[in-house]
Amino acid sequence: LAHEVGVPLIIDNTFASPYLCRPLDWGADIVVHSATKFICGHGTAIGGVIVDSGRFPWDNGKFPGMTEPSKGYHDLRFFEYFGDFGWLLKCRAEMLRDYGPTMAPFTAWLMLIGLETLHVRMDRHVRNAAVVATFLDQHPAVDYVNYPGLPGNRYHELALKYLPRGAGSIFTFGIKGGRDAGRRFIESVQLLSHLANVGDAKSLVIHPASTTHQQLDDDELRAARIGPEMVRVSIGIEDVEDIVWDLSQALDASQVTSERPAYDGQGHSVLAKAFGAPYQT
Ligand SMILES: Cc1ncc(COP(=O)(O)O)c(C=O)c1O
Repeated sequence: LAHEVGVPLIIDNTFASPYLCRPLDWGADIVVHSATKFICGHGTAIGGVIVDSGRFPWDNGKFPGMTEPSKGYHDLRFFEYFGDFGWLLKCRAEMLRDYGPTMAPFTAWLMLIGLETLHVRMDRHVRNAAVVATFLDQHPAVDYVNYPGLPGNRYHELALKYLPRGAGSIFTFGIKGGRDAGRRFIESVQLLSHLANVGDAKSLVIHPASTTHQQLDDDELRAARIGPEMVRVSIGIEDVEDIVWDLSQALDASQVTSERPAYDGQGHSVLAKAFGAPYQT
């Protein structure tokens, strides 16, 4: 479709990682990654990657910024001069210069260290995620699991085609009991970290309705295709039995509706566990 209308197909491959999905092999022109996620792998640094196939015909009449003399760079015609890496050079020479996101050497070092273990981590991520998704799918306190690796998911066939090594480890599920149950769940996890990031070696979880999107009411959440019951997990590389144990006890706690303090010192917060009352909310 993109090529029919003369624009490049750009794929954000962050959630799959270059190990699980190869968009250039499927006809994409450009691939981008937030390297902050699986590539770095430990939530310790922020960075990004642009991969240009060099195949897109920028001289199709729709991209004067690539073919006309650039006022921002000595009247250079990027496509004519650099050809198949013209767009990358424009990104470096003009955009990187103007926006200024230069990576610190220490950050680059963290990224390279992460990259060395990407393939090993991804195999473990997808193995753990498949076990967790199956566990959640069968749990009475879970209404739905949206993981394309599960047979029956509407994207399962596509996942088999595009993600032959596994369907990643970031997915959502719906908890019975809506926003309140989600809040009780998120306050009860002990191993999983309550974090808005994804793609770390450690398992991460977030309940948008009680955190990042708490300003929206239930209807507004549904309109945004989030839903008050939706929980997002990024399954890490810990022992999968520990992950399942934690999810299991937190799901049990989420279904207890009697009045009780949200925290009893056993919550997800390391500070709450270590120091108790002052850090309880
Ligand atoms: C799929 C995806 N792409 C891109 C980004 C942007 O990443 P960064 O914050 O590293 O720029 C994110 C961040 O959450 C993301 O989830």
